[in-house]
Amino acid sequence: MSLSNQDQNSSCLLKDVGIMRFNKEHMRLASYVAEFQEVVDSLRTREANIEDWRHIDALFGRILKVASGHFKAEEDMMNAQGYPGYDSQKKQHDKFLEKMLKVQEDIRGRKIKFKDDFKAMLWDWLINHINQVDVEYRDFFNKK
Ligand SMILES: [Fe+2]
Ligand SMILES: [Fe+2]
Repeated sequence: MSLSNQDQNSSCLLKDVGIMRFNKEHMRLASYVAEFQEVVDSLRTREANIEDWRHIDALFGRILKVASGHFKAEEDMMNAQGYPGYDSQKKQHDKFLEKMLKVQEDIRGRKIKFKDDFKAMLWDWLINHINQVDVEYRDFFNKK
């Protein structure tokens, strides 16, 4: 999938956390969230049809899969290197996944109407977590 201009701009907002693999996963997550925002925007003026729901199912599946794999990789690395911020990272990761799993359940039951605040929450969480929390491990890992 090629990134649209909007996605490229969004990706530039992400700070470099010093590990190429994690930077790439962050960009991938950001591009999924941007894609999700586009879907939600397109549903402002009409009801979701079967194809929209399929798109949303697939997107959420991807977001959850990439996020859980990414969180696990970060946590493993933090554990292996005795990173002092592990506990707060783990807490944020778990809370996010728990929330996303609940949303996924609502999506599967088609019991959800996406509002702008949810859309913003997803984006804000991601940017805040990467730029404020993840970025703190950059110097720690690079010194090792
Ligand atoms: Fe991360
Ligand atoms: Fe993280």
